[in-house]
Amino acid sequence: MTNKVTLTQFIIEQQRGLPDASGTFTLLLNNIVTACKKISHLVNRGNLVGVLGSAGSENVQGEVQKKLDIITNDIMVEALNWTGHLAGMASEEVDEIITIPAGYPKGKYLALFDPLDGSSNIDINLAVGTIFSILRCREGIDPEPEDFLRKGAEQVCAGFVLYGPSTMMILTTGHGVNGFTLDQDIGEFILTHPNMRIPEETGEFAINMSNQRFWEPPVQRYIDECLQGKEGVREKDFNMRWVASLVADVYRILTRGGVFLYPYDLRDRAKPGKLRIMYEANPMAFIVEQAGGVCSTGRERILDIKPTGIHQRVPVILGSKNEVERIVSYHQDAF
Ligand code: F6P
Ligand code: MN
Repeated sequence: MTNKVTLTQFIIEQQRGLPDASGTFTLLLNNIVTACKKISHLVNRGNLVGVLGSAGSENVQGEVQKKLDIITNDIMVEALNWTGHLAGMASEEVDEIITIPAGYPKGKYLALFDPLDGSSNIDINLAVGTIFSILRCREGIDPEPEDFLRKGAEQVCAGFVLYGPSTMMILTTGHGVNGFTLDQDIGEFILTHPNMRIPEETGEFAINMSNQRFWEPPVQRYIDECLQGKEGVREKDFNMRWVASLVADVYRILTRGGVFLYPYDLRDRAKPGKLRIMYEANPMAFIVEQAGGVCSTGRERILDIKPTGIHQRVPVILGSKNEVERIVSYHQDAF
């Protein structure tokens, strides 16, 4: 077949349309792609290469680190720190911001990533992924943490790779969302899902029901109405899915619609939600909005939040426009 569009070709053609594109971004993205191909290969090999199981350590958020959390973080850092395209990085697995080693040139972008999202699923052979966000920064600087703390609306690119039955990359540079499938035979991501759009209507929700007693009244009301089905105010039956890998839950919503909630809950006032804004909520919000969906905390648009910490947590409600807008209106009614 001659009409297969590779991710590289797609990005180069997209960049050609931009007057001040220097090609640096394309090269940066290619380095991310290389890292994700390595991760895809490792995840696929699993215990054949002894990478499953716990590393016996905790990350800055107090979560038990899997061996693969650490290995995939190293793969990302080592694929990107020498390139000259980045001024710095931030990762879910690293407490402080990651600087560029002395001797390497610094570039005009910042990369933020969750190297292995959903890693609690790795040992049970379910889908996991890599999430990334790219910000521009002043060229040549040694960035401070404050230089990373920018609204999600300023992202120049966001994407995630889903290591599922197929390995897929979902990408936006602010001109819609496109999906690419890794062709293992030739080692290239091929455009297979152009211009992905989230259906506005849905009958499917995703939430961790075990936290129900901690939710605020608007979320209680919304889920309660879904559970009432045809007999309730919504007058239709809803279905529920919860993969517990954000990447897989968002991919499902991009494919067939739905709503995902990891809402504010009253368990721990110090943790307003579970997901981290810089490398989970922001990139997913950028992708979801570019696909015609909505992403909110319930009280405000995620992409408008001015972050205060690299590992800051935030409530996330995302997906089909009509459902998320309904949940937001329930918050407006309540507060
Ligand atoms: O990275 C956090 C994460 O693993 C997400 O991928 C996922 O959506 C969520 O946490 C699952 O949370 P829980 O363990 O509460 O179901
Ligand atoms: Mn994660």
